[in-house]
Amino acid sequence: MLSFTSLTSNLIEELIQQFGPEFIKYDADTIEKYSHDWTEDFHFPPAAVVFPTSTQEVSQIVKWCNENNIPITPAGACTGLSGGMLPVFGGIVLSTLRLNKILEIDKRNLQARVQPGVINEELQQAAAALGLYYPPDPSSKGSCTIGGNLAHNAGGIHAVKYGVTREYVLSLEVVMANGNIIRTGANVLKNSTGYSLTHLLIGSEGTLAVITEATLKLIPLPKYRLVLVASFPQAALACEAVSAIFNAGITPSALEFMERDAIVFGYQFLKLSDKIPDEVQAQLLIEIDGNYPDILQQEAQQIGEVLEKFQVSDILFADTPSAQNEVFKVRRCLGEAVKGTTIYKEEDTVVPRAELPRLLNKVKEIGKIYGFTSVCYGHAGDGNLHVNIIKTPELSQEQWEIEIPKAIREIFQFTIELKGTLSGEHGIGFVQQPYLEVAFSGVEINLFNNIKKLWDPNGILNPGKMGLISG
Ligand code: LAC
Ligand code: ZN
Repeated sequence: MLSFTSLTSNLIEELIQQFGPEFIKYDADTIEKYSHDWTEDFHFPPAAVVFPTSTQEVSQIVKWCNENNIPITPAGACTGLSGGMLPVFGGIVLSTLRLNKILEIDKRNLQARVQPGVINEELQQAAAALGLYYPPDPSSKGSCTIGGNLAHNAGGIHAVKYGVTREYVLSLEVVMANGNIIRTGANVLKNSTGYSLTHLLIGSEGTLAVITEATLKLIPLPKYRLVLVASFPQAALACEAVSAIFNAGITPSALEFMERDAIVFGYQFLKLSDKIPDEVQAQLLIEIDGNYPDILQQEAQQIGEVLEKFQVSDILFADTPSAQNEVFKVRRCLGEAVKGTTIYKEEDTVVPRAELPRLLNKVKEIGKIYGFTSVCYGHAGDGNLHVNIIKTPELSQEQWEIEIPKAIREIFQFTIELKGTLSGEHGIGFVQQPYLEVAFSGVEINLFNNIKKLWDPNGILNPGKMGLISG
């Protein structure tokens, strides 16, 4: 059982003496800001928030927490969707707000060295200014941080062609629970040297160590993009068309799915007055990119021919950056749109791509049995469906708390049957813990706990997450 020491005013005073008044805040606004992320409506206030400016300071505060038995939870922009930064045991939140520098862009080697508090889009822009590209771009790219992206192995719409965060990390500098600073990996494109601690740490949600620096791989920025918005009379047909596009020999740089209700949420959120025709039950947003416009045109035509076989009713082309931004604005706002409008639970199911129609079908079937409405959208090209279960007035609080988790479990069981898993990019964090056993055996969970114990014997790093019990 985890049990920690409270951060008393004497201990806070000790930290002010050691690090100065700018380092630690515990006013009501700061506490409120760091007591929640974008996950449902959870609130867990920390006792204080620290704002280190260097790896040395991170090392000192983590070591201090370890010695004083105080929990410490790293946080970036607090945009997570699994409650990964919620300080569920109180204690200290370590904000990366002031660790926000792009330290270097090495154009010769196509690499960027960054601190964890760098905003994803700022890195994208700095890379683009040099003709380079950092593809992982979650919908929250304008506010989310690289540290948060690393903690959850974030994906985003371009993962389908370019891969997720994990595929862009060459090496990390991290602070261990005892304050030791280590570097993992090397700044090379291939590496067969020992265990890959880098890849163990990516996606470990701040439970093993605190990332203080990352060296990331960049690639040349593709010169042209073309976007197609394809409308379908049935959501299932849109899902079936997805794998057919790849089978035709095309790898889109984005392939997103929105069912009608999701589009409605997006339009309402953005206050768009355009009417969605009645026959549109779902859309695919398909982006292709490359360096030769002629080839993109040919591929677009080929995609059109594939979509015909799935009763596509309309294909709209967006060939200018501003038209493309408008298209993706609707898609990217959906998380916020659903959150801003209703109480909901979001699942981040992922299955092998060709199984997507079966997954969608099953979600709707389970919805009928349990009486819930779901709004589904996501990274169809990755087989990654965001299932938003809405708390409609018909659902009582008891149903919401007792029956809906059973329904979620059934959805997850089905993803596992399809050889998929619980989360494609949002992580386990706080909310998906009860379902961990659906995906992992006792032997595997035991292994996770032993890994945790090895890195963090006192269990002070982001406790109460990822189903880990050690401490
Ligand atoms: C998205 C977030 C919810 O895809 O992952 O918009
Ligand atoms: Zn997503």
